[in-house]
Amino acid sequence: MQLGPYDISGRYCLAPLAGLVSRSYRGIARQFGAAATPTELISACGLTHRNRRTAALVRPAPGEHPFWVQLFGAAPAELAAAAEVAVALGANIIDLNMGCPVRKVTASGAGAAMMQDPPRAVAAASAIRAAVGAAVPVTVKLRAGWDSGSVNAVELGQRLEQAGVAALCLHPRTRSQAYGGRADWSLIAALKRAVRIPVIGNGDVKSVDDAERLSGETGCDAIMIGRAALGNPWLFSSLALGRPLLPTPAERAAVVLDHLRRLVDEIGDPQRALLRFRSRALYYSRRLQGGAEFRRRIMQIRELEPLQQELGRYFGQAERVPDRPAAARCEP
Ligand SMILES: Cc1cc2nc3c(=O)[nH]c(=O)nc-3n(C[C@H](O)[C@H](O)[C@H](O)COP(=O)(O)O)c2cc1C
Repeated sequence: MQLGPYDISGRYCLAPLAGLVSRSYRGIARQFGAAATPTELISACGLTHRNRRTAALVRPAPGEHPFWVQLFGAAPAELAAAAEVAVALGANIIDLNMGCPVRKVTASGAGAAMMQDPPRAVAAASAIRAAVGAAVPVTVKLRAGWDSGSVNAVELGQRLEQAGVAALCLHPRTRSQAYGGRADWSLIAALKRAVRIPVIGNGDVKSVDDAERLSGETGCDAIMIGRAALGNPWLFSSLALGRPLLPTPAERAAVVLDHLRRLVDEIGDPQRALLRFRSRALYYSRRLQGGAEFRRRIMQIRELEPLQQELGRYFGQAERVPDRPAAARCEP
């Protein structure tokens, strides 16, 4: 997939997941073969007001190039100014969030609410492009639309293409659906037919088989994977290989401990990193034996060293829960 001057080699990208994926895990996903790792949504207002915490989010992981930064905001002028700040801080590609369903974001007209106002959505993308110049590609991450009565991803995608957007990512659920129901991949296929810029498909990809089906059914140029990649960077190596790849307990333990080390480095405060890491460790324990007991134990740990010991001990021996046999089929 070509994004302006950047040749993104590889089809599988890590999707933005605010509060769950940050610089530390983006670096790990890259190491396991994720082709791109856009940041979580970052407030245009926070960036333009030079909020220190917001600016700290605009920092690439080692080797994260091109650095793809996602912004959210409602006002085209503010988004344009924020994009300039992001580029000054090292962003190589700017993504505009038009998908966030959270009320705090949509209430101001940002996130998925932007899709309800196509002229403003197009003006925002154009303003960002004008601010950052041709060397910095601008992409947009869309939902299907606001609700089932206003599905407009394809029409809006065409207008954004005309405005010079370099690629579109589509998570084909409406804002009303939030994360419920199933992603409607047929919309990704319709968008792909309707535009010439790259289309990144997203939604409900959990396995190599899902990724192959999404590619086959839509012809999308790349795939973004969110929830299924949490605690599972091996999904990216599996996708590259074309078959499921499971880590040994020792490999899993090494990655978990590396993730914690990177998070301490990212946050700069071991105590805060410990608190934040607890929720992330849970994802690594999905489908492992003794997971419930492990999760109870780590919630009690208050110091970094005992946490490291517990992570090494548990993940160093935990085996997977055996897959359930497929349900017996009823023959007619
Ligand atoms: C907790 C959470 C946080 C998310 N944060 C963002 C975000 O910051 N920016 C964004 O564009 N999408 C965000 N998303 C949406 C995901 O990127 C993705 O579109 C969605 O989860 C569907 O893909 P999946 O089925 O592979 O998870 C978030 C989703 C979840 C569940």
